[in-house]
Amino acid sequence: MNKFENPKLVSENKEKQRAYYIPFPDFESAKKNTKAENPKYTLLNGEWDFKYFDTYQELPESISDVDFTDKISVPLSWQCAGYGKFQYTNINYPFPFTPPYVPSVNPVGVYKREFNVESFEKMYIVFEGVSSYFELYINGNYVGMSKGSHLQSEFLISPFLNSGKNEVIVSVYTWCDGSYHEDQDFFRLHGIFRDVYLVSRPENHIRDIYIKTDISGNVDLEADFIGNATDVSFTVVSPDGKEYESDNLHVKIDNPVLWNAEYPVLYDIYIKAGSEYIKRRIGFRSVGVSENSELLINGVAVKLKGVNRHDSHPDLGYYTPYEHMLKDIVLMKQNNINCVRTSHYPNHPEFYELCDELGIYVIDETDHESHGVEYAFGLCSLRSIEQMASNPLWTESFLDRMERMVERDKNFISIIMWSLGNEGQFGTNHIAMSEQTKKRDTTRLIHYERTAFPNKAYGADQMDIHPCVDIISRMYTSVPNTKIHGELKTDKRPYFLAEYGHSKRPGPYSLEQYWDLFYTYPRLVGGCIWEWCDHAIPTYRNGHPRGFCYGGDFGDFPNDSYYCVDGLVSPDREPHIGLLSLKKAQEPIRVFSDNPESGIFTFHNRTDFTDASDFDIVIKTIADEKVLSEKVINISIPPHEKAELKIDIDKDIKAEHCAFIEFYINTKNAYPWCEKGHNLGMTQIPLPFERIGKAPLPETKLSFEKNGRFISLSSDNTVYTFDRAKGMITSIKKDGNELLYSEGFIEVWRALTDVDYRSPKEKLWKGDFVNHVFFSVRGESFEENSDSLKLSFEGTLGASARLPLYALTICYTLTKEGLSVSITGDKNTELHSVPKDDPSFDPNLKTVLPYIPRFSYCLPLIKDFEDLTYVGNGPYQSFGRINNHVKGGIFHSTVTEEFVDDIVPQDCGNHTNVTSLCLKGKNSLTVNADKQFEFSSLHYSVGQLDSAFHAYELKEENLTNLLICLPPEGDSFDISAKHIDFNFIINIG
Ligand code: GAL
Ligand code: MG
Repeated sequence: MNKFENPKLVSENKEKQRAYYIPFPDFESAKKNTKAENPKYTLLNGEWDFKYFDTYQELPESISDVDFTDKISVPLSWQCAGYGKFQYTNINYPFPFTPPYVPSVNPVGVYKREFNVESFEKMYIVFEGVSSYFELYINGNYVGMSKGSHLQSEFLISPFLNSGKNEVIVSVYTWCDGSYHEDQDFFRLHGIFRDVYLVSRPENHIRDIYIKTDISGNVDLEADFIGNATDVSFTVVSPDGKEYESDNLHVKIDNPVLWNAEYPVLYDIYIKAGSEYIKRRIGFRSVGVSENSELLINGVAVKLKGVNRHDSHPDLGYYTPYEHMLKDIVLMKQNNINCVRTSHYPNHPEFYELCDELGIYVIDETDHESHGVEYAFGLCSLRSIEQMASNPLWTESFLDRMERMVERDKNFISIIMWSLGNEGQFGTNHIAMSEQTKKRDTTRLIHYERTAFPNKAYGADQMDIHPCVDIISRMYTSVPNTKIHGELKTDKRPYFLAEYGHSKRPGPYSLEQYWDLFYTYPRLVGGCIWEWCDHAIPTYRNGHPRGFCYGGDFGDFPNDSYYCVDGLVSPDREPHIGLLSLKKAQEPIRVFSDNPESGIFTFHNRTDFTDASDFDIVIKTIADEKVLSEKVINISIPPHEKAELKIDIDKDIKAEHCAFIEFYINTKNAYPWCEKGHNLGMTQIPLPFERIGKAPLPETKLSFEKNGRFISLSSDNTVYTFDRAKGMITSIKKDGNELLYSEGFIEVWRALTDVDYRSPKEKLWKGDFVNHVFFSVRGESFEENSDSLKLSFEGTLGASARLPLYALTICYTLTKEGLSVSITGDKNTELHSVPKDDPSFDPNLKTVLPYIPRFSYCLPLIKDFEDLTYVGNGPYQSFGRINNHVKGGIFHSTVTEEFVDDIVPQDCGNHTNVTSLCLKGKNSLTVNADKQFEFSSLHYSVGQLDSAFHAYELKEENLTNLLICLPPEGDSFDISAKHIDFNFIINIG
């Protein structure tokens, strides 16, 4: 039997897992804690010799006979160096389902490097992450092997070492039985992807350190040893430099300052064990659950404002260097995120150090997901559970994965929950993992989402959740079902959304509704957005100039296409609007007013530990683009509390378009993750104002000309020509210059977004040819008045071979005000005329579409229209459902900048709540409306955005495509209106 196909054999000659630490030779260097200057520590990262074998059968008899022809950088996922193949698959296993056997074609990468050691007693080598199975050889001798890609492996190598030059060889196999545990939703990458280092230690040394703290200030150290016990003592140093010496491995700190994510106060601990010194950073905090099912940190009810984060670097694969992890956490903190679920495996130990220091609650998840079992055997069937979750063959490897995470990470104060993995069915092996963990650590909660055996309880009907978990965790529960769980009294455990707010484009939606619920119901303790970052591979790897590629671009099968492009930030960490929307939903202070005129505003401090006086609140009043007043206030409101404040409001604001009061919540101090004055939230509330009267318009000369198929309406030097056959504008000429690129039309299609793509809606729409809808004229009328010319077309809107969607009247009226366009009409309800409860109702009859993607008047303008000003929501794109991240006002942009250059081209650049827009080139075109509308203006047509699947496929067109759109109802993305009443006025200048 191959070692790599034997789940009972999780490792050979590997050291028992210990807590993460690096020992130092003296107090001074421990204090500095710089690994690079530590003589006991030798980092083996860097260039290694490399040889890639297409399959393990090609390996020579002796590993020393490998002919190393290549060089590779360590750490790195080897696909990023051009070896093997990129493959992105979500649930489907990337190989035939024959556990514990893996494909017989199993590529192996063999790594080699030399290193020097002078004098040593015991020498260890540590691997922080290798995917998926590796064998270790020192100077040609087999040392041992390990599995568990995202877990640490340590080996004693001194018995094999020479003084002076030595050689290490690591053979890494693409697949092993452990790969059945690692069916996470990500690119399947391989190789040595985290640090490799040597640690030199004395003959007898401390092995494990378990630093136990509590909120009364007790610090206890549990230690064990290799060889004879050495004398151990420690000193705790408080942030203000006070020192506490241990007595019998115990010390009590008076009035410790507690750790929480908002004030992550850490103490230093220096452990002296024999000749070694270890520095760790510790904190004091407790985790609990209240009578009310709240999640308590230090006895205070907290909300988890979380994200799911994968290790993902656009150029390095699974390798996330320190700076990269730091950047992620800083970005999170700057955007009101206080929690990370390490989906779906343990991260690099330094990640947790950063979470301790910057203040992030961590749900540490072990490296187990066997989701693909459910595809191979049928969703959550009993047979799926028998495969791994309840199969004794796998018990050791389940327990090993959990134990290695808990033992390595047990001293990180940021970790508040241990997670038994993700989507690995639920069985006796999970219960055993929970029991094993609880024996070791009672200070944290146990989390696992898949406990509702055998089905997933999305709704409220199934509440009987196994007691091995301390928190009820679910994913993607709808807003109404979340409310039901908020109200539930029968299960005392908190309710947590391990995943919600899927961030495929245009972004996660309903976040405000979720957060309203989380703040209303104590039992709803928050959740983690799916997911932090897009995983995608820079396109240059595939020979294209720009953008990214994803599953299926590498000939990979099976693949899940761009389902991995669903993050809050891009692969290179550019925020998408989803992050801005989340930041807003999770802002620390929100301001409300029923009656802004009264000047009374309610401030809700939504933090858990921060008094409002820790923020500067900047209050601005604004009329159009003018700031009328600006002041900074500083008020004390305890966390969770509300307070009312009276603010003097100018009673006679005059404006042309809009007036607002805005409250900016800025940090009063600088933090390691932001500068002083960093903005964390903003509430904008409209103020009443007196509209500035417009200057009376000069009279214009109106005339018309009928010319067979076409009819032209003119106002001075502007001529609008209409196609009587199509009922649409075919030309707008100013002083003889054509302003249209091509004729106008009613567009009900949008370039499908990720939310639409492959959804039931898409099927429905495409089945009804909604992407081929056009207006057919049935009647025409023309009226000439002294001050207006009025041209009307009656007709239907529909696609060939299908029933019309709407019966419409399009009326163009030219006055000195401009060209008013009015589109009115009703949905074709012919087939709905028989009520459902009528006996003659035939459910098999085709019904008219319940909703359409969009309703817009499309004006393809010449490309010269480039400068944009609009009154509405900006400055970012917004959509009916993702609209909390923008504010109202007057914004300036350009059509080029309006385009959102995303990984997968799709509908973009929309603006909500618009009352006016103006596009300028040599001429100007203004659109005004009494009722709010939406619009986008891009140098791309809908068709092109819809058909391109990579950024590099796009070619800017020679037009400015203006879509003047009817807003969707409520917070929908779609149009379901039965009655259309859409009016706007076009003006040419
Ligand atoms: C969840 C899963 C995640 C990810 C997500 C995508 O079911 O836990 O890993 O696949 O779906 O929607
Ligand atoms: Mg999955």
